[in-house]
This record gives sequence, C-alpha cells and structure tokens, in this order.
Amino acid sequence: MTRYIKGFPQSEADEDLKFVNVDELEERAKEVMPEGAYYYVASGSEYEWTWRNNTNAYNHYQIVPRSLTGMDNPSTETEFMGMKLKTPIMISPIACHGISHADAEVATQKGAALAGAMFSSSTYGNKPVEEIAAAAPDAPRMFQLYLSKNWDFNQMVFDAIKAAGYKAILLTVDALVSGYREANLRTDFAFPVPLDFFTRFQGAKGEGQTVAQMYASSAQNIGPDDIKRIKEMSGLPVIVKGINCAEDVEVALTAGADGVYVTNHGGREIDGAPATIDVLPEVVKAVNGRVPVIFDGGVRRGSHIFKALALGADLVGIGRPYLYGLALGGPHGVASVINELNDELKIDMQLTGCKTIEDVKHARLTHFEYAGDTRPSSTDPRVRKPYPVTAVNQIKKDGTDAVSGASHH
Ligand SMILES: Cc1cc2nc3c(=O)[nH]c(=O)nc-3n(C[C@H](O)[C@H](O)[C@H](O)COP(=O)(O)O)c2cc1C
Repeated sequence: MTRYIKGFPQSEADEDLKFVNVDELEERAKEVMPEGAYYYVASGSEYEWTWRNNTNAYNHYQIVPRSLTGMDNPSTETEFMGMKLKTPIMISPIACHGISHADAEVATQKGAALAGAMFSSSTYGNKPVEEIAAAAPDAPRMFQLYLSKNWDFNQMVFDAIKAAGYKAILLTVDALVSGYREANLRTDFAFPVPLDFFTRFQGAKGEGQTVAQMYASSAQNIGPDDIKRIKEMSGLPVIVKGINCAEDVEVALTAGADGVYVTNHGGREIDGAPATIDVLPEVVKAVNGRVPVIFDGGVRRGSHIFKALALGADLVGIGRPYLYGLALGGPHGVASVINELNDELKIDMQLTGCKTIEDVKHARLTHFEYAGDTRPSSTDPRVRKPYPVTAVNQIKKDGTDAVSGASHH
C-alpha cells in the first residue's frame, strides 16, 4: 500500500524479498520510488567515476581459494567495541529514510535487528532517535554526526543519542559541503520529509530544503579540537568517518579518535577520489591496530565484504542496497539484503577455509593485474537475460543447503 504525505508517495511494505543479487534491487526500486528520490539515492557526483570505481576496484584484489582445510559451518558472528553482532555487515548512515519507507529509520532499525547487524542513524534522519531505539531496544547502534556550527544544537543531539542508547558517534568529515551531484539539480531534489533534529531545534526546518542548504548549516571547518570537544561534551567514543589516507589517521588519532571509518561517501563527494578498497591498506597500516576500522563503498557482493575484512576492516558498511530493500520490503526487505550478502560471505568463507571473521581477517588476497577485465559479467543488468524469478528457482534459505543454498543446482 502507498501512503501519500503531502504528495510524496511512501512505501509501507514489510516482506521478505526474493532476489538473486542485490544489484537487481536497484532496478526494481527505480520502478517504485519517485524519480527525485531514486536519483538522490542512486547517483554520485560529477562523472560518477568514484561511484563506479568503488565497486569495480574490488577486482584489484583476488581471493586465494583454500581447500583441504577440514572446515565446515563457518560463522559470521563478530564483536565491535564490545557489541555482539551476527554479521560484520553494518547499516551505513543515510539521510532521510522516509524517501524509501513511511516508517523511515524505525523500519531500517527493525530490519538490522532482525539480521543481527549494526545500525547507524544519520543526523539527517526523519524519525526521533528515541523512537528508532525503541523499535529494537537491545540492538547495537551508533550515531552519525554532521557537526553543526551551532554547539547548542550539537549538545541537544549528544544528550538525545546518549539517552537513547547510541554507543558511539561517527563524525562525518568528508562532506563539509555537498559534492557536485548533478542528478539532484536535474530533478530539483529537496528533502520531502521533515528531519527530526531540525524540527526539534528550529521548528519545522529540514523539510523542503535542498541538500546543499542542509550542508550549509553544518560546520565546514572541522579540526582536531572538534574531535576533543565532541568527546568531552558527549562522553561517547568518536569514530571519524571519511578517512582516506595515513595523514588523516594521524591527525584523528592524535586528537583522541576511538576509531576510523574509511569511506568516500559512496562517491557522492569528490569525484576522482580513489575507490575505498584501494585506500584501505594504507589506512589500516597507519592505524596499526590502535583502533577499530570501519569501511564502506560500493559493497554489492559477499566477496567485496570478504576482501575488505581481509584487508583489515572490522565492520563493512552498506549504503544504497539497503535503502532499495527498505523501499521494496520495509524492515524484512532490509533484513533480506543483509542476509543475502551475509550468505554470500559465508560461501567465500567456506571456500577459503575461514571458520570465523577473525580467520577472514588473516585470509590471503592476491593483487594480479588483469587486462581486458572490462566486459560486463553475465549478471550485469545491461546484458543479463530476463530470467524468471519464481518461488521455484529461488535460492533456498531454509538451511537445507550446505552453506546458504548456493549448492542447490
Ligand atoms: C542517499 C544517501 C544518503 C547518505 N547520507 C549520509 C549521511 O547522512 N551521513 C553520512 O555520513 N553519510 C551518508 N551517506 C554515505 C553513506 O554513509 C555511505 O558512506 C555510502 O552510502 C556507502 O556507499 P554505498 O552506497 O555504495 O554502499 C549517504 C549515502 C547515500 C547513498
């Protein structure tokens, strides 16, 4: 059923989704989401070179298969800062989930909890953090901060998230202004659903604002002193989101950061930045085990997650895929996306003899150069045959298959 808030259609779906890979969800979401909302989510900045290469660059690393390891039943359970998780997959912070679903972040939090995954809320969320937390009180969650120029606003946010049980702050430092996102200009996109923290603080602000206007209210000048001040004022650990090089690791850790988060905002900020998987090794080397490392960017396969873990990430975030799952299937749709990627990860764990996520962190990757790797794969939407998707040909999820059902044929 579709509900209309001031002319904006919002999904009220709540169902498991049937699909074979998460790329399909983008095509399906395009059919149900309003044009402006779809392009706000799907697009990157300028030529979208960085957006494309975030996914393509996983091919720069290859997973060395391991046989004869006498291992079965791999487990994806892990821990992050003392929080127990069923999977290393994290829900990356994304603004305005209300463009995908009527229950917005509340629905996403429910989906993450169903799958046992870490959830993170954006400062630009639609729903109050108290309501999000109440949807899954015991689930692990962190909060993404767009630092405001107004420290009264920041203090209000700190007090609210702490009381709501958020365990850490992800301080975003890679989006001091909006990247040049042409799709938003072409569709004249503005946030159609009110953003809770702005409504609370200023009264009804946020709704109807363009992305560039929203960023203008946030701080453009963020430095080491801010990290210290946020830690002091909030009493929460601060993980710096948007680290791409060794120099920034040093600045962040010297200022007392409790973690680093490798991301380029899903290719939405500087177009021409390297793919995140290509900068991860430099960052991990600079961190040298001092603090945990979160990673995201272009993750669309279990093998991408495997490679990021093997290169030193502790948690691997997904962005757009879960928003498509949210639009198509609500809470259960979000869980379907996480479960699919986690099942794919388990296949790779079985085929490399990795019993645990710790084993994956020590798995061997190679780094051969392959020429002519530009042909689209047979699963690329541009060349894929329109296979029928029926209940009969779905991968089994009932536990009857060896790992995830991939051996069903
Ligand atoms: C529609 C959209 C909105 C986003 N909003 C935020 C945000 O509010 N705060 C933030 O730190 N990152 C934001 N991001 C970046 C994500 O946290 C994440 O880094 C990115 O989506 C990962 O790339 P992926 O979408 O290819 O998985 C957003 C990304 C998208 C696609």
